[in-house]
Amino acid sequence: MPLLADWLLRHSVVMCLLLHSLVLMTFCFHHAATSCSKSCYCSESESGGKTVRCSNLQLTEIPQDIPNDTRRVYLDFNLFTTVPTNAFAGLQHLVELDLSHNELSQLEPGAFRGLGSSLQFLDLSSNKLVNFNAEAFEGLRARANLTNNPWHCDCNLQMAMPRVDLEPASLTGIVCQTSDPEENEVKGLAFLLAPDIDLCVAMKRTTDVAMLVVMFGWFTMVISYLVYYVRANQEDARRHLEYLKSLPSRQGKSEESSTISTVV
Ligand SMILES: *[C@@H]1O[C@H](CO)[C@@H](O)[C@H](O)[C@H]1NC(C)=O
Ligand SMILES: *[C@@H]1O[C@H](CO)[C@@H](O)[C@H](O)[C@H]1NC(C)=O
Repeated sequence: MPLLADWLLRHSVVMCLLLHSLVLMTFCFHHAATSCSKSCYCSESESGGKTVRCSNLQLTEIPQDIPNDTRRVYLDFNLFTTVPTNAFAGLQHLVELDLSHNELSQLEPGAFRGLGSSLQFLDLSSNKLVNFNAEAFEGLRARANLTNNPWHCDCNLQMAMPRVDLEPASLTGIVCQTSDPEENEVKGLAFLLAPDIDLCVAMKRTTDVAMLVVMFGWFTMVISYLVYYVRANQEDARRHLEYLKSLPSRQGKSEESSTISTVV
């Protein structure tokens, strides 16, 4: 019987190896089929939409290896401080992007470039956004959650608002924490819901002053030129008269010129 035992042992080892490699292979193929950003979790819904979850991973930079067929990305509760230009370019099927509960204080121009036609919901709530940068939202028509940020309301913000295509209700999330000029009525209010407040008044006033200064400058120049012109012509006239006087002339003419010289 030792022969049979030997045969069994050898074959079980082979079987075991075969099984092992089979498991490894399925794992590898599975991984290739649902390629996912490393350190994130990916799942596929029945409707074919891929979801990438990278929540609460202490990430400091937006992952650049998110598969291009992803429909939902959760990047909330990380440590991002900025969204660089073209951070999500290539994700043309992205419908939802969650960047809430980060340390975002800056969104660079074109941060969401490439998402314009697909993105429907953008969550930027609970970050450190202070200044509203319209260029960051270029091309975006999504509904955005902008609440829970320390927004600074000033003339720049007022002028930037009409330049974004975000769903208008999104802008009611911009609640002013500070303002320039200091307007107590605007603090703690959604800026969009305070239409009586004009934060560009001070700026318009300085523009008016600048206009006045410029106009005064022009006026002074015109006056000095006139004075100079008159003076120069006086000299000319006098020289001309002296020349006329020096000519041998008829009595009437010289009388005429003398009256002119007295006038001058
Ligand atoms: C994703 O990118 C690959 C090439 O990197 C391309 O072949 C494929 O068509 C893209 N898929 C989508 C859904 O855009
Ligand atoms: C926006 O975000 C805040 C805080 O993260 C949340 O409480 C609120 O429900 C969100 N609003 C919408 C419309 O999703």
